[in-house]
Amino acid sequence: MRVAVFSTKPYDEASLRKANGDAHELVFLEPRLNPRTAALADGCEAVCAFVNDDLGAETLAALADRGVRFVALRSAGFNHVDLRAAAELRIAVARVPDYSPYAVAEHCAALILALNRKTHRAYNRVREHNFALTGLLGFDLHGRTVGVVGTGKIGVCFTRIMAGFGCRVLAYDPFPSEAAAEAGAAYVPLEELLAASDIVSLHCPLTPETFHLIDRERIASMRPGVMLVNTSRGALVDTAAVIEGLKSGRIGHLGLDVYEEEAALFFEDLSDQVIGDDVFDRLSAFPNVLITGHQAFFTAEAIEAIAATTLGNLSAFASGGAGLHPVAAD
Ligand code: NAI
Repeated sequence: MRVAVFSTKPYDEASLRKANGDAHELVFLEPRLNPRTAALADGCEAVCAFVNDDLGAETLAALADRGVRFVALRSAGFNHVDLRAAAELRIAVARVPDYSPYAVAEHCAALILALNRKTHRAYNRVREHNFALTGLLGFDLHGRTVGVVGTGKIGVCFTRIMAGFGCRVLAYDPFPSEAAAEAGAAYVPLEELLAASDIVSLHCPLTPETFHLIDRERIASMRPGVMLVNTSRGALVDTAAVIEGLKSGRIGHLGLDVYEEEAALFFEDLSDQVIGDDVFDRLSAFPNVLITGHQAFFTAEAIEAIAATTLGNLSAFASGGAGLHPVAAD
């Protein structure tokens, strides 16, 4: 099967080539997928796409016109796919539900540790031979309360890590799991979690119900000086409200691996350009904000697993007309 692989970086090409062997004809393309670049999939039965590719109705229609019948996502999240349009156009969609929950949970812990102990600032100070400690005061994680919103695969891993630090873990999920309880989480209503937690970490998917889950009102209900961490999807958080919270001091630390408007920025080297996103620049100017560019998933193990599952989806579609891990509209 001929497959157009969009948003290809060198590490994607290497891992996908290795997992593919000679099974499919993979056409590696650097551009992001959108209604204009869909033409690059001419002659392909399938496309392979990543988190910031545009898989809205217009793109899907353009792909269908060119004979595309399958979308293999290289991600767990599928909030960027118009699944209804895909169904109407008879395009099947599959994803990689599970590659390394450890990668994301560990990165989340890294953000928390760095923010708390100001490692990002200490690194620069020491390089300039500034060995003063003023401004670097942290707190013991031991004994602190951590609120985990969403206790799926990543939330459970993260619960285990934080329990290992000696934290009390509170959790909220509309579908509580035994695994999270076994890992040490105590389920409480969301409002109770927000009011009691020193650190709030988001691990739920982006859906219409979770859009701006953390808004002005919920920020006001959090503990003064709370640390908020989002490694899930940018739009779980109302960025304007978070900036207000940082300015007032209600939010004491903010760790982000995802950002509402990341599609225009992340995964590209823009270091020699003036970026037009004032909100991002305001956020990154706070000393108590640490942002990484959607790299939580980025470990050798995860990349290998993403490639293996993606090839599994492609081969299953080629032989049976459906991916191994299909996603469909409700
Ligand atoms: P999962 O599907 O195993 O777990 C998600 C959990 O969220 C489920 O238990 C679900 O019941 C819960 N949930 C649904 N609606 C909720 C709500 N309104 N409030 C609280 N919980 C709710 O997913 P997994 O693998 O744990 O991933 C979680 C999220 O992490 C993904 O949706 C994705 O957005 C993000 N992610 C980020 C990556 C990164 O590199 N930054 C990489 C991989 C995933």
